[in-house]
Amino acid sequence: MSDGSSANEWDPDAYDRDTGFVHEYGGSVAELLDPAPGERVLDLGCGTGHLTADIAERVGESGAVVGVDAAAEMVARARETYPTLRFEVADAREYAPDRSFDAVFSNAALHWIPRADQPAVAERVADLLEPDGRFVAELGGTGNVAAVVDATLAELRDRGREAEHPWYFPTVGEHAAVLEGAGFEVRLARLFDRPTELDGGREGLADWLDVFGDSLFAGLDDGERAAVVSAVEDRLRGDLFDADSGTWTADYRRLRFVAVRE
Ligand code: BEZ
Repeated sequence: MSDGSSANEWDPDAYDRDTGFVHEYGGSVAELLDPAPGERVLDLGCGTGHLTADIAERVGESGAVVGVDAAAEMVARARETYPTLRFEVADAREYAPDRSFDAVFSNAALHWIPRADQPAVAERVADLLEPDGRFVAELGGTGNVAAVVDATLAELRDRGREAEHPWYFPTVGEHAAVLEGAGFEVRLARLFDRPTELDGGREGLADWLDVFGDSLFAGLDDGERAAVVSAVEDRLRGDLFDADSGTWTADYRRLRFVAVRE
């Protein structure tokens, strides 16, 4: 889930407890990867390792799966949970193991990498793949969680705070150009709305901002951060909160792609 360049602090307990939907939705991306027995697969931005484990089960003992993440805390948790699997701490832009892969998989990680570094990541992935190897991934697409980001930035600016959009949420065309520039043929690219009910009931939006929002709140002390979160809830309650069920639904949009190294 992390590439090493974001200012986010990762807490594996909170991540699994409050945003477990990230890997649950990622199951359908692993299905799209469709790993075959015996394949060598890299999971880029593996977080706490749940999807790495799903993939490892599919490739079986004759295959080899490696999960990498830039956040040491997440890798430590992945190793603890899945002691027989291989996990490494690595930055996606620099990972250079002495092996190649049949496929590279990534769920909900690439959007943490700044736009300027996306070509370097795509080139690194191309270098890691065998010819005809596939890169199958999903990240936030253009407009992802726009209501949440806009409300938070507006609240911060109203308080005289500097704030910028912290994530890379590309259009299909923008990201396809990055992949093609690195020598991939893009076989599938799809942008779709995926309204996502947040875990945690009434606390869902606050929990989500707690897990993912560090880069939005850089420079704020705990008290001010809590005040901003509460104000953001007030701004969004009418649109994103369902009082009957007591749940928040965020305006997720995903970009999913399959690209093959030429
Ligand atoms: C996610 O991984 O679900 C995510 C992270 C940051 C912003 C939006 C979505």
